[in-house]
Amino acid sequence: MITTLEKVLFLKEVSLFKNISSERLAKIATIAKEVEFSKGERIINEGDEGDSLFILIEGGVSIIKGKETIANLGPKDFFGEMAILDSEPRSATVVADTDIISLKISREDFTEILIDEHEIMLAIIKSLVHRLRQTNIKTEKKVQ
Ligand code: CMP
Repeated sequence: MITTLEKVLFLKEVSLFKNISSERLAKIATIAKEVEFSKGERIINEGDEGDSLFILIEGGVSIIKGKETIANLGPKDFFGEMAILDSEPRSATVVADTDIISLKISREDFTEILIDEHEIMLAIIKSLVHRLRQTNIKTEKKVQ
C-alpha cells in the first residue's frame, strides 16, 4: 500500500502534473486510488462505458485496437482519459503486459481537477496532440 506522501512524490515526476504545487498534488494524491492488475488482465475493454483514468506507477500496458497494438505505455504514462473527456465509449482495449500498480482517478474528480488546474488541462491537450501525431505517422507509413 502506497502512502499519500509516496503518491505525492510519484505525481511530482509525472509530466501531466508538472508545475502543480505540492499542496494541490497532496489533494490529488488523496483522490487517486491505488489499483493493481495482473499480467494479461484487460484493464479497459474497447466499447465499454468509461468512468476513470489510470496513471501507471509500475509496469507496462498495450493499447489494442481490433487485433493491432497501436501503442505501448509505461511508468508515468496515463490512459483512459478519452472516454472520461468526451463521454463516448472506450476507444481501445488496454491489456497489462506485466503486473501493474496504478493510480485511478474517477471522471468526477478528474473533471474538478481540470477545472481548477489549467496547467493539467494543457498537459492533457499536449498529450492528445502527441498521440494524434504518432497515429498520423503510423497511418502515413502504412499508406506508403
Ligand atoms: P479511452 O478511450 O478512455 O480508453 C482506451 C485508452 O487507450 C484511451 O482512452 C487512451 O488513453 C488510450 N489510447 C487510445 N488510442 C491511443 C493511441 N493512439 N496512443 C496512445 N494511447 C491511446
